Amino acid sequence: MHPKELITKYLQFFEKKGHTIIPSASLIPLNDASVLFNTAGMQPLAPYFLGEKHPEGPQLVNIQKCLRTVDFENIGDNTHNTFFFMLGNWSLGAYFKKDSIAMSFEFLTSKKWLNLPLDKLAFTVYKGDAKIEADEAAARYWESHGVSRKRIAFVGKDNFWSAGETGPCGPSTEIFYWSGKGDAPAEFDAEDETWVEIWNNVFMAYNKDSDGNLSNLPAKNVDTGMGFERTFTTIMGKESAYETALFIPVIEKIEKLSHKKYEESKKEMRIMADHIRAAVFVLGDANYVVPSNVDRGYILRRLIRRAIRYGKMLGIEGSFTSQLATTTIKIYDDIFPELQENKKRIQEELQKEETKFALTLEKGLREFEKMAARADVISGKDAFLLFQSYGFPLEMTQELALEQNITVDEVIFKEEYTKHQKLSRTAAGGKFKGGLADNSEETVRLHTATHLLNEALRRVVSKDIQQRGSNITPERLRFDFNFDRKLTSEEVKAVEDEVNRVIKKGLPVKREELSFEEAKLLGAQMEFGVKYGEKVSVYFVGDYSKEFCGGPHVKNTKEIGKFKIVKEKSSAAGVRRIKAVVQ
Ligand code: ALA
Repeated sequence: MHPKELITKYLQFFEKKGHTIIPSASLIPLNDASVLFNTAGMQPLAPYFLGEKHPEGPQLVNIQKCLRTVDFENIGDNTHNTFFFMLGNWSLGAYFKKDSIAMSFEFLTSKKWLNLPLDKLAFTVYKGDAKIEADEAAARYWESHGVSRKRIAFVGKDNFWSAGETGPCGPSTEIFYWSGKGDAPAEFDAEDETWVEIWNNVFMAYNKDSDGNLSNLPAKNVDTGMGFERTFTTIMGKESAYETALFIPVIEKIEKLSHKKYEESKKEMRIMADHIRAAVFVLGDANYVVPSNVDRGYILRRLIRRAIRYGKMLGIEGSFTSQLATTTIKIYDDIFPELQENKKRIQEELQKEETKFALTLEKGLREFEKMAARADVISGKDAFLLFQSYGFPLEMTQELALEQNITVDEVIFKEEYTKHQKLSRTAAGGKFKGGLADNSEETVRLHTATHLLNEALRRVVSKDIQQRGSNITPERLRFDFNFDRKLTSEEVKAVEDEVNRVIKKGLPVKREELSFEEAKLLGAQMEFGVKYGEKVSVYFVGDYSKEFCGGPHVKNTKEIGKFKIVKEKSSAAGVRRIKAVVQ
């Protein structure tokens, strides 16, 4: 079976049953501060479970891009992926338990659909608690389709599902498939991991408040999630998704690059393939983020850097993440065209991150060796130093420590990290103004224009030009730079045109926090004569300019408007001054 066939079948089946196909929501929810990434198909639908009317009606189906970091340590095993697809069908107050179970049963076992042998299926239902009774009804519905009681287990908290601490939730029934060779045992043991969970049907009838109290939702809903990778693997009769069309081309590419065999380096290759796939989908998303040291950007950075380290462990020389991304994109681009559309960005960002990491990896490893030689525990402060100055995510330090049978003081690291995140958010919020008189829209636009002017002068006039000072009011920008003669009117015009050309390109503006050394090695522009701390904030305007700066800036150069130089004159010996406006 081709992977796409499973998706088509699922969507078609539920469409036939009166569901409307809706597109996958962005992997990165912009309006939901409670999560960094979508972790389940129902997440973008939460308002509709709470009572809002969905414009496409009460029965929906889709394939949703999801990313879960809770299973980070499990990556490399047979059944977990950081990034995965969830097939889901929903009832917003339309059908409930009986029909949901009937449809799942038909889709899984009918000849026309997946045609899985009933003999290999097993089910859990909720065993109940003080407030909610055991789900005998769900068990009886399964039985009514010919399922043996022995294949139904009553289970506790795993069968009460909610997306987070609060919100829509309910008891669920999970569907398992026997992944072992030969016949499945007659009696289902939910603890035996040979039984792989492939589908979860949640009977979402409650809302949980912050005190843990349950109240009835306006309607009785159904939320189901089928693990696409697991189900596809099952159908293909393979041990893991890495041994199916979903990953084989990438694994083969890693084999080629490393001159090693998958059979001998399964864990490393699986982690690399998994992490690069996740990075590809994060970078390829409409609401994409780039690697950084905070929040979503930090998760992305951890994924990419972990993949790089495993690649190095396998002996791969030179950079490789962009090549693996290209192979990954080919596997999925007919289902997710955004990957092809954003291919250049995905490749460039990976390459950029790999180059950046290459600058500090060796030095950081040497630093780690010194720390490891000193004691049996890497202190939280040392782990934070590795993070801060060499870009080592915590779990990388932990993995390195594990290889030497020592540990890392995670508690102190986390304290330091939380402090750092708070600081970063303050900076990102524009509280470090750096040469700005105020934070009005005009000054912000002029501020980004100043970065473009700085770079344009170097590209158009002389590569030796450096900033000597800057001052911005809501009316104009003033920029001083080293140069020993008056600019010609052609040069002024050419600089102006260059800035406007870049503005029109609509380049994204992104902020990152880096160690001073890292930023310098990257070639970020700094102001002559200014002392910078150990940690600096760098603004990137697309791949056009990079500059030490506290911000704030526009999000996209298009917001700047038209740039015009109004004056060019001498400021001091060997220093010129430009005044410019944006219209
Ligand atoms: N929302 C449910 C899950 O993620 C279906 O398992």
